[in-house]
Amino acid sequence: MSSEFLLQLQGVNKRFGGHVVLNDVSFGVAPGEIVGLVGPNGSGKTTTINVISGLYRTDSGHITFNGQPVHHVPMHKLAHLGINRTFQVPKTFRDMTVRENIEVAAHFGQPGHAVDVRGILREIDLETQADKLAGSLTVNQQKLLDLGRALATGPKLLLVDEIGAGLNPAELGGIADLLRRLAQRGIALIVVEHLMAFLGSITSRVIVLGAGRMLFEGSLDAASRHPEVVAAFFGGEA
Ligand SMILES: Nc1ncnc2c1ncn2[C@@H]1O[C@H](COP(=O)(O)OP(=O)(O)OP(=O)(O)O)[C@@H](O)[C@H]1O
Ligand SMILES: [Mg+2]
Repeated sequence: MSSEFLLQLQGVNKRFGGHVVLNDVSFGVAPGEIVGLVGPNGSGKTTTINVISGLYRTDSGHITFNGQPVHHVPMHKLAHLGINRTFQVPKTFRDMTVRENIEVAAHFGQPGHAVDVRGILREIDLETQADKLAGSLTVNQQKLLDLGRALATGPKLLLVDEIGAGLNPAELGGIADLLRRLAQRGIALIVVEHLMAFLGSITSRVIVLGAGRMLFEGSLDAASRHPEVVAAFFGGEA
C-alpha cells in the first residue's frame, strides 16, 4: 500500500476464543480523508476501531501510523500520538459538567498540545450547555460531547462509531457538517455507520466487512451493487 496513508492496516487478525472476528483486514486512510466502515451487525466494525485505538490487541498483522508500528501501543499512548475515537455508546463523565469533560479529556492528548476548550465547545455546538452536567444532555448532545472529548486530545486520526444512530435529520446534518469540517482541517476519519444516506453525504469511499472479512473497498455506489455486499446485508448467495 502507498505511503501517503497516515494509517495502514495489513493482514490484521483478531479472535475471541475460537471465534475469528477480524480476518486479514488491510486498508489505509490518508490525512484529511473520510473512510466509511460498513457491514451487518457483528461483522467486526467496532472491533476494527478497538484494535486501531489500542483498546484490543491484534493477534497478528500490522498497524502503522505515520509509518510507525502501533499495534502493540496501549490506548493512552496512541492518544498522545494522535489517534482517538468516539464510542458506540458515548462514554462521558455524567457527573461532571460539559466543560469539565473536555478539560479532563485534554490531559490525555499530545503533550504540550494547547487545548482551546471554548473553541471545541463552539465546534460541537455546546457552548451554551458548558456548565450543565453531562448526564443531563440529550442523546445527540452526549454524542457531540463524546466527539468533543476526542477532539480535545488533538487527534490526527479520529475513529467515529455509529454517531448517527437515533438522531433526527437536522441533527444528522449538523454532525455531517462537523465531520466534513474536521476532514478539511486535515484530520483522517474512519466513520462506522449503518445510515448509508448520512455516510454518502460525507464520503464516497467505503470498506465493507462481512463476518470479519473485507468484502469490498471502493465507492458507496459500487458497494451497493456488489453481489457479495448485497448478500452479506440481505442474505442469499453471493
Ligand atoms: N470483547 C469481546 N469478547 C468476545 N466477543 C466479542 C468481543 N467484542 C466483540 N465480540 C464479537 O465480535 C463480533 C464482532 O463484533 P463487533 O462489535 O466488532 O461488531 P459490529 O460490526 O460493530 O456490530 P454492530 O453493528 O452490532 O455494532 C461479534 O460476534 C461480537 O460478539
Ligand atoms: Mg459496533
